[in-house]
Amino acid sequence: MARGAVHYYEFVLKEKNFTKLCNTESILVVNDSFPGPVIRVHKGDTVYVNVHNQGYYGVTIHWHGVKQPRNPWSDGPEYITQCPIEPGSNFTYEVIFSDEEGTLWWHAHSDWTRATVHGAIVILPPVGSTYPFAKADEEEIVVIAAWYDGNLKELVDEDIATGEDLPHSVANTINGEPGDFCPCSKGTTYRWMVDYGKTYLFRVVNAVMNAELFFAVAEHNLTVVGMDGHYIKPISTEYIMISPGQTMDVLLTANQPLGHYYLATRQYSSEDASVTGFDHVNTTAILQYKGNYTIPSSPSFPSALPLYLDFMAALTFTSRIRSLANKEHPVNVPLNITERMYITVSMNSLYCPTCTKANDNETLVSTLNNISWVNPSTDVLHAYYRNISGVYTTDFPNYPPSFYNFTNDELTDESIVLTRQGTKVKVLNYGETVEIVFQGTGVLKGSVNHPMHLHGYSFYIIGTGFGNFDNETDPKGFNVVDPPELNTFGVPKKGWLAIRFVANNPGVWFWHCHFDRHMSWGMNTAFIVKNGPTSETSIREPPDYMPSCKVPVKSWIQKNYGLDEEDMENQTRLD
Ligand code: C2O
Ligand code: CU
Repeated sequence: MARGAVHYYEFVLKEKNFTKLCNTESILVVNDSFPGPVIRVHKGDTVYVNVHNQGYYGVTIHWHGVKQPRNPWSDGPEYITQCPIEPGSNFTYEVIFSDEEGTLWWHAHSDWTRATVHGAIVILPPVGSTYPFAKADEEEIVVIAAWYDGNLKELVDEDIATGEDLPHSVANTINGEPGDFCPCSKGTTYRWMVDYGKTYLFRVVNAVMNAELFFAVAEHNLTVVGMDGHYIKPISTEYIMISPGQTMDVLLTANQPLGHYYLATRQYSSEDASVTGFDHVNTTAILQYKGNYTIPSSPSFPSALPLYLDFMAALTFTSRIRSLANKEHPVNVPLNITERMYITVSMNSLYCPTCTKANDNETLVSTLNNISWVNPSTDVLHAYYRNISGVYTTDFPNYPPSFYNFTNDELTDESIVLTRQGTKVKVLNYGETVEIVFQGTGVLKGSVNHPMHLHGYSFYIIGTGFGNFDNETDPKGFNVVDPPELNTFGVPKKGWLAIRFVANNPGVWFWHCHFDRHMSWGMNTAFIVKNGPTSETSIREPPDYMPSCKVPVKSWIQKNYGLDEEDMENQTRLD
């Protein structure tokens, strides 16, 4: 592939006052804007982003879905590939695009800072080539984010220290605005002025912290043509369901009577129907036709927007997603698998004597194969590259410690419920072909969708289903012909998800649930993909400067729950 163009961006991170929903909050943003600036490239380009931290806390930035071949140094998750950029300092990311095309996004990757520090990435077809669908007349960005009351950083820190539930958003925003249905918001609702007869390409980003979303436009059909920086077979639909972390390219033709139409999103909750504490606000923007007509008293609302708990509506949409799988956009699903993993994604309890809000000294955490991730004291990449021991261990297991009826909702047995913490990573040899089956569990009645995200790669979604995965019968239904190639996809509530990828990108790559509450509670781990035999298959040299972890680590649970050796032993005895 010809080497693409090079672009330079300056990102200045600073706190700024924004007034929304009748309140003024000081929030951390890039270049004074919420959402932040759009990065525009062609496929195969390289972007240098110099991030100046003028905020009060250390921050890092991640380029979600950009594979960064051989370049984990610029991937961004804190304590995984780098230490935070400290206030008053700066760091330049080298963001290397390869096979991505469509829409991706960037976001902060330090605690919950991504709530306000994020923006879209537009990747146009390479110069001299074009889209695999009729080119739209116009392109528009649709970034959906969550809005919180109060100082999110302080709230999250306090909840972690006490074992209290993590914050819930009060509304979502579309391009920074909550819309007509929210208090004090009518005058600022985001609007698109559209021309009758034109086709628009909406580049939709779900930047919300903890919610999957339904999305529809009143009386207009949608055609989804891309997802997570890869094209898909066009899906004609009245609504979409988009998980946090995902991005979609959606075509809409303005072919309805001149008027005003709501573009609306609503949370899709896969939690038990008894859980009602989520944000029920309909977030809206307006599609406003140009021309002469009588302005309606109110825009029309999309009747096709599914209701909060509509599990079937979500499944109906996600089950239609397929790769283009043609000559220009082929699929290469690995068929001979060298590494198989079966991983439970679960809620669990952790022994925590210092959690004041804990019941019986137990607090809620989340786990992968019954391990709740703890950030190390320096980043895993640094420790790996420099051979520093004592930072992480390489014993992340290929299987859960015990097998039980995972999707039973009555799992309260202590031997299943209690968990342990660890900084355990999985090591893969270069070129291994990996199949992972994620198994949802009903532990603590906590069955819910989990949008799993892998850094440094995209993966093929070869299968998904309900109940416990059956390794005899379920593989017979795997799709190896045209499975979608994505970077984030949900493990269904009370079900399983099977993915495949080839470990051909050496480095340290984080993976986690893209619900931040689950990530904060430990539903994370990392792959270390070893170097191949040549320099072209090995990690690049580190840049001259990487931020160091000079400030004592604020490793989530470890610091805040104050688990010392003795506590750890107690915990071991408990489980
Ligand atoms: Cu979009 Cu590790 O995240
Ligand atoms: Cu999750």
